[in-house]
Parts: sequence; C-alpha cells; structure tokens
Amino acid sequence: MNHVAICPGSFDPVTLGHLDIIERAAATFSRTVVAVLDNPVKKPLFSTAERCELLRKATAHLPGVEVKHFQGLLVDFARAEGARVIIRGLRALSDFEAEFQMALTNKHLAPEIETMFMVTRPEFSFLSSSMVKELVRFGGSVAGFVTPEVEEALMAKRELLQR
Ligand code: PNS
Repeated sequence: MNHVAICPGSFDPVTLGHLDIIERAAATFSRTVVAVLDNPVKKPLFSTAERCELLRKATAHLPGVEVKHFQGLLVDFARAEGARVIIRGLRALSDFEAEFQMALTNKHLAPEIETMFMVTRPEFSFLSSSMVKELVRFGGSVAGFVTPEVEEALMAKRELLQR
C-alpha cells in the first residue's frame, strides 16, 4: 500500500479553501506533497519561491506535509515522488469539466496513478485565488479567505494588481 499523495496547483496565492483540502489530505495520507506549478507562461502574481514560502508557513503545523515545485507534467512529478494519488478539490459543478479532462488525461498518461476528489467545505465553495486577487485589486477585505501572512503578501502587491 502506498501512502503518498500529491496536492497540485498554481496556489497564486494559497487560500483557506486550498488549506482545507491539504489538511484533509494530511489526515488521510502519511506523506502529502503540495506541488506548486512552476509555469512562467501563466504569469503568476507571486513567484514560485513566494508561493512555496506562503504555503510552507500555512502548512507548518501539518505533519507529513512537504511543499515542492515542479515543471512539466504532473504525473512525471508524482512518479518521481513515489505518489500513487493526486488529490484535487472540487467546488461547484463549474469545476467538473476541466477536472474531468485533467483526471482522464493523467489516467491516460499514468494508469497507475489515481485522481481523487475532495469536495470543498460549503463555506469555501465560491473561493478562488482569482477572486481573492480581484478583491484586493478593488480594495475589498480578504479576511477569512486567506491566512494573515497571505493577506499581508497580497497587500504588498496591491499596486501590481491595480495596474
Ligand atoms: O490550481 P490550478 O491552476 O487549477 O492547478 C492546475 C494544475 C497545476 C494541477 C495543472 O495545470 C497541471 O497539472 N499542470 C501540469 C501540466 C500537466 O501535467 N498537464 C497535463 C494534465 S492537464
């Protein structure tokens, strides 16, 4: 039995919705690797190093959780980490189509790896990194959506968001 799970994402930045999924994965698997996509084409607000650092602070209390970044195919990274499970959070029906496509593509590429979905808690079902950035851009509060460290980091980038 393999007990390693991968929680992949852009995490630009990590939200309390992401953290809920990571916490639940950590309670289920003996090792959980949070995999931050390092894709400069996506032009994220936070650099890969910044996104990893914010995630490390937010998950420091969770045993068995490691934060790493990857380039290229997720399944190659999962294999290199010895993981047999990819965990994705599902919010609303609108997530389903893209997640279905991604899960089937990954299954085709790596039949030995399973994608498992965790349904988000209802209070986070509308939450996304894009929504949080939009709130900061227009001066709204993100308290209750992100950790205080992430809120501070977002405030420091507020000017960039307003350009
Ligand atoms: O947080 P996101 O942006 O929804 O995460 C998407 C992510 C990083 C899981 C996905 O884009 C990904 O796995 N990218 C790596 C490239 C890859 O493996 N593509 C094939 C499967 S779609």
